[in-house]
Amino acid sequence: MAARGVGRLTCLPLCSQRSSRVLRSISRHLSCPGTVAAKVRNEEQPPRGAKTGFEDRTLKKRFSEVQKERREQAQRTVLIHCPNNINEKKFLKYLSQHGPINNHFFYESIGLYAVVEFCQKDSINSLQNGTHTPSLSTEATIPFKSRFLNLKLKNPSNQISEQSFAHTNNQFPPSSKKLFELLNYAESIDDQLNILLTTFQLTEENIRLRHLTCSLIEDIAAAYFPGCVIWPFGSSVNTFGKLGCDLDMFLDLDEVGKLNVHKNAGNFLMEFQVKNVPSERIATQKILSVIGECLDNFGPGCVGVQKILNARCPLVRFSHQASGFQCDLTANNSIALKSSELLYIYGSLDSRVRALVFSVRCWARAHSLTSSIPGAWITNFSLTVMVIFFLQRRSPPILPTLDSLKSLADAEDRCILEGNNCTFIRDLKKIKPSGNTETLELLLKEFFEYYGNFAFNKNSINIRQGKEQNKPDSSPLYIQNPFETSLNISKNVSPNQLQKFVELARDSAWILEQEEKNQPSPSSRQPWGLAALLLPPGPHHTSLSRKKRKKPMSEKVKGLLATIKSNSADSFAATPGKRTVSTKA
Ligand code: GTP
Ligand code: MG
Repeated sequence: MAARGVGRLTCLPLCSQRSSRVLRSISRHLSCPGTVAAKVRNEEQPPRGAKTGFEDRTLKKRFSEVQKERREQAQRTVLIHCPNNINEKKFLKYLSQHGPINNHFFYESIGLYAVVEFCQKDSINSLQNGTHTPSLSTEATIPFKSRFLNLKLKNPSNQISEQSFAHTNNQFPPSSKKLFELLNYAESIDDQLNILLTTFQLTEENIRLRHLTCSLIEDIAAAYFPGCVIWPFGSSVNTFGKLGCDLDMFLDLDEVGKLNVHKNAGNFLMEFQVKNVPSERIATQKILSVIGECLDNFGPGCVGVQKILNARCPLVRFSHQASGFQCDLTANNSIALKSSELLYIYGSLDSRVRALVFSVRCWARAHSLTSSIPGAWITNFSLTVMVIFFLQRRSPPILPTLDSLKSLADAEDRCILEGNNCTFIRDLKKIKPSGNTETLELLLKEFFEYYGNFAFNKNSINIRQGKEQNKPDSSPLYIQNPFETSLNISKNVSPNQLQKFVELARDSAWILEQEEKNQPSPSSRQPWGLAALLLPPGPHHTSLSRKKRKKPMSEKVKGLLATIKSNSADSFAATPGKRTVSTKA
């Protein structure tokens, strides 16, 4: 169909996009009968300000259903780089030539972008047929026809005069200053944890953009492997994603085989002629290597492509400029996708889980316990597993053990991956709610006390059985991999990093205990509760701690301080089980 109206669409050439960290968006929902898009948001995220308990669990869909719906939605969606002065109404009218639009939003990322979801996939073909590849006078373009497009105005002055520009909303979390204000004026520590969650969790638009980005990369990978799927995994889908987190992608080639299995009826079995290589790892490295080349050479908006093929889990890392996502593409990594499903279940069972995980992750980041650079630090994944383990240890438990989720599984849940039994119940409705009614405030304080006094020197953390076990080796921190049970997911953590974690946990437990006694006024300007815990170490933190510690100590705290004084500074690992607090000022 010929392009008429506000502008001309062109396939985006490889050279014209620039990176950005700012993301602003709006969502306009235009209902479109027959699509599932409208329902997905409510089913994926708890309502804002969710309190404790199981209230929204039964509304939730299975992980696989959500992922399939999101993928299908993304396949009906295009990403369009727009002029800043675009007239939203005219833009939508222009695109509607190709079919009804189900949903759209705009966001800024050094330039204005529109994410437009059509009701039908056919509309994309129609749009692409009316789109041309630009020719530049100074640079040659690679004529790759994707769903990432560029809109130009035919008559810019005419557009500007109408003053009906696209509406955009800021979608990034607030600045630290704003966050501290929000936290300071909260009514309780429970409120503070829920505010942090709702402020930092992925928005609907951000989730859509993540799935769209995977879908765009899938189109590129499909040039080599028709029918392949690129699934997002990790915090983008496991309910623990924070705005700004990376986008982990899994290239699934098994889906290719599954498509045609039913055609193998009768006495014959047809196989593809293939090349063989000595190991799965080499196959993965070769596949990722060509896809990495492809992204680098032909992928619009894919920059800084690095092939990290000798890592334990080979990957291709790149930046997707238009979305602003840092992407890690892996293959042959289906256990990680299953781990994401497991975390999705745990995150959906009780709204306290996500609130606690977000706070612990933010606390760890604020104190540089975690880092975006790989190293001897605790990872967000490990911290999440530590929170899950702690919630399994409550009385009564807030979360079930992985073994009990396995015992609830049906035949259709059975899943063996690379020889590992990854079976667990996937239907949330079949999991009995916990009778535990503890507040978030109590849970946060107890989390810090629990790990501030955990016998890391001899015990491991194990969410499969939900109980402390003897460590099988001398790694400072041993967290059993839930599916590959002979592996430790925190093998990289150094003794120093663990010690720092323990000391900060003890400090934080102490600060919360003092809060409980002194009940600071919510309107006081002094950071309190969660806000006090998130303060990075510095003059403010020191003065806060000093000020608070002038207040009378309880007998229990006096006892704890006496205990720690009698131990040497570095003996925390050798005094398992003792209830101690740090003497650090
Ligand atoms: P962010 O820090 O927000 O990105 O959290 P994340 O959960 O996405 O962590 P990350 O990007 O480091 O890893 C992505 C996913 O890979 C995790 O959610 C896990 O499913 C898996 N993963 C990460 N680290 C390990 C590990 O050490 N062992 C195993 N088995 N899986 C891991
Ligand atoms: Mg991640």
